Amino acid sequence: MSKFKMVPKNGHRIQGFSSESFIDAKNLLESLKLKDEDVFIDLGCGDGHVAIEAVKMLNDDSTVIAIDVYKPSIEDLQNYVNNENISNLIPILADFTDGTDLDSDFADMILLLNVYHHFNGTGKINETIEEIKRILKRGGRVCVMDYKKQKVKHGGPKYEMRISGDEIIERFLSKGFELKCYNDNAGETIPEGKSHYLLIFENK
Ligand SMILES: C[S@@+](CC[C@H](N)C(=O)[O-])C[C@H]1O[C@@H](n2cnc3c(N)ncnc32)[C@H](O)[C@@H]1O
Repeated sequence: MSKFKMVPKNGHRIQGFSSESFIDAKNLLESLKLKDEDVFIDLGCGDGHVAIEAVKMLNDDSTVIAIDVYKPSIEDLQNYVNNENISNLIPILADFTDGTDLDSDFADMILLLNVYHHFNGTGKINETIEEIKRILKRGGRVCVMDYKKQKVKHGGPKYEMRISGDEIIERFLSKGFELKCYNDNAGETIPEGKSHYLLIFENK
């Protein structure tokens, strides 16, 4: 990955890497089939490129919440919201693994794009999935898109940090979710094949 690719186009500060250079946020959001009035949460939003695209795609009746633990990312997104006068994009600074003040039964869709492997490393993954479940409406969905557990020559987290799709499925099923989609060929094309899997679960 070139140094150039590490700087998000929107110039926002980010801890780690933005997926903006290799994940088409518009295509991803279209595949999630959001509705205009939905509450959509971009969890671990980083530079906010997906949350910003969501606000462009959905109408003003929607609510887009962008959560990140890294203060500079949230400050930059808040400045963007203020400058663009956007009423339905709410940046929130929080360590999600510690829980949140968000209402229960509130969100229609929560996206974890290249974030699950960070949560997994905290040793608080069960509590984190329980918090996702608490916030989601009954019938609400969570999408986990992350790096496949494979050894690659370039890019992405170390092999040891990567979590297989099957392991995530087992964990979400044990928390009362139903698997709705398992795409094992997502993300960018790399010499080893495809970079990501994409999972969608429904809160039962
Ligand atoms: C690899 S970046 C991905 C950013 C963005 N989702 C994307 O795909 O461009 C991971 C992000 O997760 C955030 N993050 C990691 N642990 C977190 C936590 N406990 N609570 C909230 N955000 C967290 C990081 O600050 C970082 O912005």
